[in-house]
Amino acid sequence: MKNKSPLVVANWKLNGGTDLICASVSKFLRHNFKVNIGIAPPYVYLGDMANFLKNSSIMIGSQNISKFESGAFTGETSGQMLKEVGCNFCLIGHSERRQVFLENNASCQTKIARALEANLMPIICIGENEQQYELGLTKHILYKQLHESLQGQDLTGKELCIAYEPIWAIGSGKAASPESVQSIHAYIYEEICTIFDKETADKIRIIYGGSVNKKNAAELLAMPNIDGLLVGGASLDPEHFSEICELA
Ligand code: G3P
Repeated sequence: MKNKSPLVVANWKLNGGTDLICASVSKFLRHNFKVNIGIAPPYVYLGDMANFLKNSSIMIGSQNISKFESGAFTGETSGQMLKEVGCNFCLIGHSERRQVFLENNASCQTKIARALEANLMPIICIGENEQQYELGLTKHILYKQLHESLQGQDLTGKELCIAYEPIWAIGSGKAASPESVQSIHAYIYEEICTIFDKETADKIRIIYGGSVNKKNAAELLAMPNIDGLLVGGASLDPEHFSEICELA
């Protein structure tokens, strides 16, 4: 089923600044990576990053998107604005946004629609927490997250990506095993075949995130259902992140 070229995405979260941007840009412009790469810095750096990397194949994306299009919504940034400054994708429903900012499947559904309308590729993040994992509820949680946020989306001519990020693996140094990720991705694939159809599901990348580093990246990427990686901590070191990209 690996008919999609791998995608490796850096999620800087609330980290980075001018120094990291300069170091990353100079690293990425010197290399000719074969893999698809995306970088999601904090909002304020998106325009600069997109400009610096405009002659490269590296994609720039936001870590969030407003569910509103315009108007009196202080602090929000719309899909059209993100597109205008050069974004290609946006992360939606990261577990940190679900936990800290109380986002839910319904708000994710609206945000996915907004991203698609703006021609941004949504990378929808899903995953269970430690307690749910221990209670064997992983598939139940993923089922709800997938169905409630993807049902009714029109993907005609659009791109979508799903990032499976078990919450217990994020920033913990305990990545999920490649075999378990493989089996969960196979489940996600079955569900998106049901929500859309096989032809559409075959075009959707399913990537993994959670304590990815240069030591475990190759093994994860060797699995047939793992179409790429979403990297947090290790993406803050341009050298480390490029090594992960080289493995893909
Ligand atoms: O979105 C990436 C993420 O949440 C994983 O973070 O630091 O475990 O690679 P990290």
